[in-house]
Amino acid sequence: MGKSALWLTTFTLLFTGFLLARAQPEANFKCSSSTNATCPGLIDYFSQNATTLRNIQQLFNVKHLPDLLGANANTIPENASATYTVGPNKVVRIPFPCKCSNGTGLSNHVPLYKIKPGDGLDYIARTVFAGVVTYQQIQKANKIADPNKIVAGDSIWIPLPCSCDAVGGSSVVHYAYIVPTGSTVEGIAEEFGTTQETILSLNGLDDPKKLQAQQVIDVPLKACSTSVRNNSMDYPLLVSNGTYVYTANECVKCKCDSSNNYVLQCQPSLLKPTGGKWSVCPSMKCQGNLTIGNLTSASDDPCNRTFCAYAGYSSRTISAILANESTCPAPAPAPSGGSGGSGASRTTFSHIIFLHFIFLALYIL
Ligand SMILES: *[C@@H]1O[C@H](CO)[C@@H](O)[C@H](O)[C@H]1NC(C)=O
Ligand SMILES: *[C@@H]1O[C@H](CO)[C@@H](O)[C@H](O)[C@H]1NC(C)=O
Ligand SMILES: *[C@@H]1O[C@H](CO)[C@@H](O)[C@H](O)[C@H]1NC(C)=O
Ligand SMILES: *[C@@H]1O[C@H](CO)[C@@H](O)[C@H](O)[C@H]1NC(C)=O
Ligand SMILES: *[C@@H]1O[C@H](CO)[C@@H](O)[C@H](O)[C@H]1NC(C)=O
Ligand SMILES: *[C@@H]1O[C@H](CO)[C@@H](O)[C@H](O)[C@H]1NC(C)=O
Ligand SMILES: *[C@@H]1O[C@H](CO)[C@@H](O)[C@H](O)[C@H]1NC(C)=O
Ligand SMILES: *[C@@H]1O[C@H](CO)[C@@H](O)[C@H](O)[C@H]1NC(C)=O
Ligand SMILES: *[C@@H]1O[C@H](CO)[C@@H](O)[C@H](O)[C@H]1NC(C)=O
Ligand SMILES: *[C@@H]1O[C@H](CO)[C@@H](O)[C@H](O)[C@H]1NC(C)=O
Repeated sequence: MGKSALWLTTFTLLFTGFLLARAQPEANFKCSSSTNATCPGLIDYFSQNATTLRNIQQLFNVKHLPDLLGANANTIPENASATYTVGPNKVVRIPFPCKCSNGTGLSNHVPLYKIKPGDGLDYIARTVFAGVVTYQQIQKANKIADPNKIVAGDSIWIPLPCSCDAVGGSSVVHYAYIVPTGSTVEGIAEEFGTTQETILSLNGLDDPKKLQAQQVIDVPLKACSTSVRNNSMDYPLLVSNGTYVYTANECVKCKCDSSNNYVLQCQPSLLKPTGGKWSVCPSMKCQGNLTIGNLTSASDDPCNRTFCAYAGYSSRTISAILANESTCPAPAPAPSGGSGGSGASRTTFSHIIFLHFIFLALYIL
């Protein structure tokens, strides 16, 4: 490598480091649940180029297509196949397993990425994985001594931020949300049914104005209540409003809907089992002829009815239990104080970003 190339590299690295430090605080999600607690995590991914669901599955090691579809039920049709095309810069939510240790949550040793010839760590972080992590986070997680010395063919772990902590006493899915340009903490809180204070405290922000575009923040999504036992292999089964999951080796499909009073609704998926040495799905009955998802015959009152609920699975069986639920419509939320306020603060926020950008440019020059 010539001297000028060396300088260029050094400069690029310094410059990159500077930009990252300024423009993108590293996401570190607190996870104070017991050591080695696991739960489902969720993160945003924006593909720079058009891509397919199959490519996304491979990139993030999402084994089963229905898992990806369920997390994106609001944007991708349920019958989409793996060749379904995702347009450039469309957001796709990636489900992944989360594990807590030492006060922080990280994806449980997935996804693994096989380094290609010519890849740099920063390129992998920023371009291949669209900035869901920084190259420093990859470097630390993989104990890479020198980020300029990575070897094509090696597999590295991309440590995605996540958490298994309850928030305000409720079970939530911690969504690693990539802040779009022009968003405010207030707007995000409103969109995802949480409060500004919760978002600020979860993310260690002391001032909503410090929120930056492209920053990865922890947004708690309220999860449906379930009857899943704590010794079930999928415990805790966290499903957020508007999404569905397949569980018990894909034998059971569970859906969460706020209009159903946040009570998880499960039923036999009618799919073939995908693992667990099952050739067919085991029985899913509560008693007699009641199957998971069935109501008892004396269940006319929507505010008090008994149904056969999914209660978890083991390597051999799927359990079901009779449970009470109320599917009375939840009380309507208090009317919000008009959208003018949030619109105004949004504009102010973009102005501030714009000013920051000018200062940054001046500083660099
Ligand atoms: C957590 O997992 C690690 C590695 O899997 C293990 O070494 C450690 O003993 C576990 N800690 C607890 C408290 O279970
Ligand atoms: C998916 O379902 C929709 C209707 O819900 C239908 O119009 C469409 O053709 C289906 N697509 C495939 C690939 O089956
Ligand atoms: C746990 O975190 C502390 C600081 O938060 C750090 O000093 C320590 O090395 C970490 N331990 C492990 C095993 O990662
Ligand atoms: C997107 O496409 C452009 C042009 O084909 C290519 O240079 C770039 O590497 C692609 N980005 C990714 C993340 O594959
Ligand atoms: C699991 O649930 C049982 C009751 O169903 C309870 O006695 C036990 O303490 C729970 N275990 C944990 C680890 O929460
Ligand atoms: C729940 O999700 C549905 C469908 O995605 C959406 O229409 C509704 O507004 C959401 N409700 C809440 C409280 O977030
Ligand atoms: C279950 O069996 C009872 C009689 O044992 C019958 O009255 C009822 O209709 C059956 N329900 C279903 C869902 O098949
Ligand atoms: C009970 O659940 C099974 C499986 O979802 C369904 O086929 C059946 O129609 C349900 N029976 C009643 C009475 O709802
Ligand atoms: C719910 O219904 C059962 C009978 O199905 C009744 O015994 C019980 O009192 C009801 N509970 C409430 C809170 O209304
Ligand atoms: C359902 O509620 C009734 C009273 O409201 C109670 O007697 C019954 O034990 C409850 N059943 C279950 C499965 O919790």
